[in-house]
Amino acid sequence: MRKLWIDTDTASDDAVALLMALREPSVQVLGISVVMGNVSLERAVRNALISVERAGTYAPPVYAGANKPLYRNTDFAVVCHGVDGLSDRGYPDPALKAATGNAVDAMLACARANPGEVELVTLGPLTNVAVAAFKDLESFRCFKSVTIMGGALRMPGNWSPVSEFNIIVDPEAAEAVFHAGVPVILAPFEICTGESLFLQEDRDRMATASEAGAFAVDCNTVLIEYGKRLGLNGLCLADPAAMAVVLWPEIVREQQETYICVETAGKYTTGMVIYDYIDHLHRPHNGNVIQRIDGPAFKEKTIRCLSK
Ligand code: RIB
Ligand code: CA
Repeated sequence: MRKLWIDTDTASDDAVALLMALREPSVQVLGISVVMGNVSLERAVRNALISVERAGTYAPPVYAGANKPLYRNTDFAVVCHGVDGLSDRGYPDPALKAATGNAVDAMLACARANPGEVELVTLGPLTNVAVAAFKDLESFRCFKSVTIMGGALRMPGNWSPVSEFNIIVDPEAAEAVFHAGVPVILAPFEICTGESLFLQEDRDRMATASEAGAFAVDCNTVLIEYGKRLGLNGLCLADPAAMAVVLWPEIVREQQETYICVETAGKYTTGMVIYDYIDHLHRPHNGNVIQRIDGPAFKEKTIRCLSK
């Protein structure tokens, strides 16, 4: 049984990724740490608890983590996910409560207790993960790998001309995690575009597949409308695409080991993920960049995972 720890800034696409992980029988989610990003920390914790309940399976502990980036201020992604992060649908408060204790300590304890076994999956800004590496690098390096939803490498950024949201919110944290010595798998934004877009018929199938599927579509109402305004013909589910790479690696069609780093001081390029695939910098490879996935397979597996 594979073991996961998920770090999330839970808004609507994170919610779908959490449902996938909690409903996939081949993995066990040992814990969930929450970070600010799409919404405030408080809202993200509430959304994570709601998502765990809506998965309808089991309830790993949910811990509150960083409520701001390491050094910067941030604004929230209300335009993509609504004020509450779940499209302001008025979901009732969760019965579940957050676990006591700090997310970073819990994450490190989990890695230490399962050396070389736990796959860390990050769906938001990397603040919690960077603090964990700074606080106890030896324990942090007990993680088997870290799969990061982040970066926009072969397409424009979604939060600046060259930067993707999770990275630009806390670029210093991302730069630290890319260099912390745990193997990085980078799932950039482009893998949830093109053939990975959830079209109307995909959303209709998901919405009628189960209560979890209906929630997955309903809570993404704002993201669907936002995509339409950008001229997209479907729903971009970035976190579910990264989670799908973890759960079902057979959907990966193109990947490359390379050196990756983050611009943290650019006038126009702060938050840009640089991947040195022609090896200009002659630096040791620290990451595996997922460049393309089988979009139809991603969508089919996700809908089935939410259908049981
Ligand atoms: O750029 C997309 C990422 O930013 C996703 O993780 C989304 O939830 C937001 O956190
Ligand atoms: Ca996210």
